[in-house]
Amino acid sequence: MKQLGKLLPLTAIIFLLTGCGELNLTALDPQGPVAQMQLSLIKLSLYIMIIVIVVVFAIFAYVLWRYREKPGDTHIPKQVEGSKTLEIIWTTIPVLLLIVLAVPNVMDTFTLANVEADENSITVKVTAHQFWWEFEYPDHNVIAGQDMYIPTDTKIIVQLEASDVMHSFWVPALAGKQDNVPGITNEMWLEAEHPGVYKGKCTELCGEGHWLMDFRVIAVEPDKFDKWATNMGEPEQEPATQLAETGREVFQASCIACHAVGGVGGNPVAGGPDLTNFGEREVIAGFLEFNDENLEKWLRYPAETKPGNTMPAFNHLDDSEMEALIEYMKGLKVLD
Ligand code: CUA
Repeated sequence: MKQLGKLLPLTAIIFLLTGCGELNLTALDPQGPVAQMQLSLIKLSLYIMIIVIVVVFAIFAYVLWRYREKPGDTHIPKQVEGSKTLEIIWTTIPVLLLIVLAVPNVMDTFTLANVEADENSITVKVTAHQFWWEFEYPDHNVIAGQDMYIPTDTKIIVQLEASDVMHSFWVPALAGKQDNVPGITNEMWLEAEHPGVYKGKCTELCGEGHWLMDFRVIAVEPDKFDKWATNMGEPEQEPATQLAETGREVFQASCIACHAVGGVGGNPVAGGPDLTNFGEREVIAGFLEFNDENLEKWLRYPAETKPGNTMPAFNHLDDSEMEALIEYMKGLKVLD
């Protein structure tokens, strides 16, 4: 029982470190060809290292035991310095191992670096900001915030940029990380095999809110993606209720200067995420569970909720204005 007591926290730590259970935040369960290729390379290197360590330590232990000093030993063992046979063996084996490692590594490196478009591929320009993500679809003339929608079984060419400081784009279930650097466009590609939600994180220390700079890649069937992209590019729908209509007025007065909806509003320099499909998000500000209470908390106390962000506080709104604004924001949807 004591043993079990020790084992449980250890298991918990391992699960935490591998990010198990948290929306595929792990490179060990690949959900697309890029992550699959990268995991295969990791495994190949790991297996070779394990074989080398086991063999070397086995020989080491054997030699320690076999040639230990025994009572009555008088002679020095046979010296092997300059042995051609041994020199050839311990040069050839590492060379062979390096070839086994190098061939797939070089081949996969070329495949992974190939960001050429094919007939189906789409391009997504990912701009990192302190502390949120912008996804621009130049082929569809669409800009989205925080949720990166992609069609399944499609090569996604990702162009990485940053508006302020260095960030790093990482969706472990789909691909390895790559930096967003101001003034430079880095390119990579990824692909999702199945529909699903894959968590992404910023992995470059970029300021106070770095640890909360999360996003999601939402892979949907190509038909659904087309619908999403088309609707994202349409003007805003009329709000469904009178309360939402009132909320829309509050939004127009308070939020539209920084946040675009349906292609209207926003500010390319000092603005925040596009909110056209805000009502379809699963989290607020990248990390808060989506519910009325958290949305109000975010709108009233953004600085306390996500340190370092530039969203102004809207604590001056009275309860009825806040209720209407929340109703309106929850109704911002482009699918179904
Ligand atoms: Cu952006 Cu860390």
